[in-house]
Amino acid sequence: MTVRIKVRAGGPFAVEGPIRLVDAEGNPIDIADRKVVLLCRCGASRSRPFCDGAHYRIGFESPPPCAEEEEEPT
Ligand code: FES
Repeated sequence: MTVRIKVRAGGPFAVEGPIRLVDAEGNPIDIADRKVVLLCRCGASRSRPFCDGAHYRIGFESPPPCAEEEEEPT
């Protein structure tokens, strides 16, 4: 099965598929009961690394996608 990561506009990363989630020390984080794991990317969640909906409260806005590099003038 393929892992799918969806970047939600103004919200978390939604990760779906067979993954292992570990903390900064490499300790496993139990996600056995979750089909989709929502990972906070706004930094305001009180249950990090998971999203708890706090992005709505703080008005998190997604950074824009990377712009294409401009060509050097010739
Ligand atoms: S992205 Fe949802 S609480 Fe941070």
